[in-house]
Amino acid sequence: MFTEEELKHVDEIKSHYPTNLSAVMGVLHMYQDKYGYISDEGITFIAKLLDVPEEKVLGVVTFYEMYHQHKTGKYKLQVCTNVSCMLRGSDMVLKTIKDKIGIGIGEMTADGLFSVHEAECLGSCGTAPMMSVNKDYHENLTPEKINELIDALKAQG
Ligand code: FES
Repeated sequence: MFTEEELKHVDEIKSHYPTNLSAVMGVLHMYQDKYGYISDEGITFIAKLLDVPEEKVLGVVTFYEMYHQHKTGKYKLQVCTNVSCMLRGSDMVLKTIKDKIGIGIGEMTADGLFSVHEAECLGSCGTAPMMSVNKDYHENLTPEKINELIDALKAQG
């Protein structure tokens, strides 16, 4: 499931920590970047690779919203709905997305390009409302900005 080179990277991640348990998050990121989500098979693989209990890996996957256990769109729109974003318009963000591409939280477009996810505070409260698209933050969102962003992502394909 990982290439030789990726396994070397796993060793490098492990070398930063006193126990393999601490390396779980980094290896989960690697896995998700490669496969798009963390499958049950992936959990078993990572547990064996790091010699930690599967329940521990599953616990990390289910605790953090950045990990996904199901296939997601190429562009993951993670809309923060925590307090600052909620007060400053997360409903508008979700409605604009729904109007534009027809999907809401937990859904994916038929072409697999977009999926929408609800996120807890992403640490960007001062620029609410915001969402992340994969690893990029998009802040101070307005309907215009959201529509432009989605058009740009569609154009990239
Ligand atoms: S409440 Fe949305 S980033 Fe903090």
